[in-house]
Amino acid sequence: MVLRQPQSILVTGGAGFIGSNYLNKMVPAYPDTLFVNLDALTYAGNLENLAQVCDRSNYVFERGDITDFELVAGLFDKYGFDAVVHFAAESHVDRSIIDPTAFVKTNVQGTLVLLQNAKAAWKEGEGLFHHVSTDEVFGSLGSKGVFTLESPYAPRSPYAASKASADHLVRSFGTTYGLPYVITNTSNNFGPYQFPEKLIPLVLNNARTRKPIPIYGKGENVRDWLYVEDHCEALEKVLLQGQDGHTYLIGGSEEWSNVDLVEALLDVFDAITGQAKGRSGELITFVQDRAGHDFRYAIDSSVTQKELQWRPKHSLKEGLVKTVTWYLEHTDWLSNILNESYRSYYQSQYGDR
Ligand code: NAD
Ligand code: TYD
Repeated sequence: MVLRQPQSILVTGGAGFIGSNYLNKMVPAYPDTLFVNLDALTYAGNLENLAQVCDRSNYVFERGDITDFELVAGLFDKYGFDAVVHFAAESHVDRSIIDPTAFVKTNVQGTLVLLQNAKAAWKEGEGLFHHVSTDEVFGSLGSKGVFTLESPYAPRSPYAASKASADHLVRSFGTTYGLPYVITNTSNNFGPYQFPEKLIPLVLNNARTRKPIPIYGKGENVRDWLYVEDHCEALEKVLLQGQDGHTYLIGGSEEWSNVDLVEALLDVFDAITGQAKGRSGELITFVQDRAGHDFRYAIDSSVTQKELQWRPKHSLKEGLVKTVTWYLEHTDWLSNILNESYRSYYQSQYGDR
């Protein structure tokens, strides 16, 4: 059942991985709704991701920082938003270990600025603030169990702590000021337009260029993988049908240890590129573990599935085939994104390999 049909939506971080997949889906699907993409274009933001929608009349790009209160206030005035879908974040755990400062600024202070502006612009009970968050706020699981709506917050990395803080701020604006909100906590995404510092595109890029493929520790850590298109379909349903004040857990029910995932990915890569099975696997190199590395994430999406009539359409293997195919067809995109800033980050992590 559709509860709302927003007319003017502020989408933050729409030039990043998930935000661009979301806009590429939503802008053509809702031609009568205006989508304003506010993005600072950090190293992770790339307007090339939005080539399919940038000329549409219901899409506008505004370059700016979500921590800039006056700028955000001006956008609320100019566009009269009736919904915010908030993706903008510093999103990479390894970078948060090197320096958490930007994570607190963007993920905590930036979320507060958006909430304050939504509160000022909307009468009580009006509008919708959709906060896009992660399952990492619930911490690390042992070999059994899953995250549920009852799971306590227990973030362990600076990234997860900053996202947890943002979740708490969003809920506090709901209970204190009556600001309508929904929060989605989702598992690891993969698919087109993901920046190659994250595991799957990093492995693909290194396989393509025959560089060592770093797996942290023994590769036993487990993640629950979700193809990004399936995530965006769930986000669409949450926007239209999500109940005010509800939290939706979204996962792929595809739990894989890192080493098994990388081997499966490389099998797909070798098959598609016509190489002998196992050739790319020779590149796997076990490296020093991530500090405070969360052992396992697994998410119970059953409540979301029932309430929103949603379920992931892609198995992990189907998603991997689409992803490998996409990256091989978009080597120009990869070359453009692998700029100086990426190279200096990669070198700081892995040296000259
Ligand atoms: P991303 O790093 O690919 O993109 C982030 C985007 O935000 C970039 O376009 C960047 O330019 C922009 N941005 C960063 N700081 C900004 C600022 N101060 N002002 C304006 N724009 C800014 O991230 P992603 O992987 O697409 O993740 C999007 C959201 O989804 C994040 O909130 C993340 O926590 C959440 N999430 C991600 C995953 C995942 O697996 N990638 C899983 C669950 C939740
Ligand atoms: P990542 O893609 O960074 O996502 P997150 O840390 O948010 O789960 O990493 C996914 C898993 O892969 C995580 O357990 C860390 C591991 N990993 C490696 O083993 N090697 C790598 O080079 C990277 C980037 C991650």
